[in-house]
Amino acid sequence: MKQVKLFVNAANQKSKINREIYGHFSEHLGRCIYEGIYVGEESSIPNKKGMRNDVVEALKEIKTPVLRWPGGCFADEYHWKDGIGPKEGRKRMVNTNWGGVVEDNSFGTHEFMELCEQIGCEPYIAGNVGSGTVQELAEWIEYMTFDGESPMANLRKKNGQEKPWKLKYLGIGNENWGCGGSMFPEYYAHEYRRYQEYCKNLSGNELYKIACGPNSTDYDWTDKLMSMLTNRLPKAIALHYYVMPGTWAKKGSATDFSTEEYYNTMHKAYMMDEIIEKHCEIMSRHDKEHKVGLIVDEWGNWFDVEPGTNPGFLYQQNTMRDAITAAITLNIFNQHSDRVVMANIAQVVNVLQAVILTEGEKMIKTPTFHIFRMYRDHQDATLLDSYVENNEAGEDVLVPALSQSASISEDGSILLTISNCDLAEDYEVVVDLVDREFSECSAELLQSKMDGYNSFEDGHIVEPVDYNGYRMEDKKIILAVPACSVVSLKLKR
Ligand code: AHR
Repeated sequence: MKQVKLFVNAANQKSKINREIYGHFSEHLGRCIYEGIYVGEESSIPNKKGMRNDVVEALKEIKTPVLRWPGGCFADEYHWKDGIGPKEGRKRMVNTNWGGVVEDNSFGTHEFMELCEQIGCEPYIAGNVGSGTVQELAEWIEYMTFDGESPMANLRKKNGQEKPWKLKYLGIGNENWGCGGSMFPEYYAHEYRRYQEYCKNLSGNELYKIACGPNSTDYDWTDKLMSMLTNRLPKAIALHYYVMPGTWAKKGSATDFSTEEYYNTMHKAYMMDEIIEKHCEIMSRHDKEHKVGLIVDEWGNWFDVEPGTNPGFLYQQNTMRDAITAAITLNIFNQHSDRVVMANIAQVVNVLQAVILTEGEKMIKTPTFHIFRMYRDHQDATLLDSYVENNEAGEDVLVPALSQSASISEDGSILLTISNCDLAEDYEVVVDLVDREFSECSAELLQSKMDGYNSFEDGHIVEPVDYNGYRMEDKKIILAVPACSVVSLKLKR
């Protein structure tokens, strides 16, 4: 077993880790909303107002802080008025982006707000800039947030919601460089300026406006956007970055992959760090006072769909490989929490790197779900300075074997999360707490073979266990971190 040192300096407290970093994304895509979340009140699957109880409970368990909706690409073709009022009268449309299926609009604004209320999370609405109008978005905001006499507020009341909802997070478009209108950054910047003007703070509701940011390494987008918004700064810009071990045409299987594909996936997950750093550097040039946050409101692994499923539904299984890339990515977000204020994994149920999969009345928690649970105490804690003397793992492509982040909660307890993506090597990590003493220590371990996953026949194959592979020695903790695993360590004074 290789020995490495890891330092955690509780005296060096850094940025707050916004709980919204642990956010999720739900789109009218495949079986995410319909079946995965919303089954309707008449369903035999236990539900409250149409929302699956099992899914809502699971999302509460990981303290889901924020949920983005209605897309994705779907958002820029979504007309919110189609999804309100009596369900029989709601317009049926074609979901052109995702499988060409009929969208019956039975899940709309009221249902989304109900879902967020049941989960106890903030709603994050992505507005339609690509094919909508300023008026349409302004009216949606009026419909949701205005507490008084107005055409939209009256319509809302007529539809059964007397009091307005609170809406904080508002995305002005989605991927407007692509499916949201194929715009150039200069054009989008003008659009953003125009739209944001009419997205009003009504009845004491304060919007947190989010501009469409770049696609992964498109640094030019960030540069041009930031330079054109200087006197109309959004609260944040939204970056999208997906990990694909292969190419768009052949992304690779979610469950059947080689060690080469495994390390390639790790390599691409680690790239998130450099991508964030470079965008932040550009942002800092234009925003010296550090007013604009970076949101990564779509991230995760994107593989080929499961054989036999609709290619437009993006349904993929989820293995230990996904758990490790989630652990690496969340550690990266924590480390950048001075600028990264929110992140939303794509997507919450049955789509891409989902935390939950459903099949009829069955529901399973994926390995990625368990990472969100093991990391949940990082939410709203303060990042601590930490450093690991790392080793490289891999074959042709070499990556850091270990990734880590540490945070301190208000009660003084520390959470240290470590991933080991090395498939061959266990590590003995000597955690040096720089003189800080703790009386209580507990740990959890998520470990499996790289392609281990939970199935509908057995949903408990990859699950965290209480872990005692550590000992305290002279103010240090000697912790074994097995190959292909993630460990969370909780320390109390
Ligand atoms: O998450 C799937 C799709 O990926 C989203 O709709 C889009 O925004 C992105 O390209």
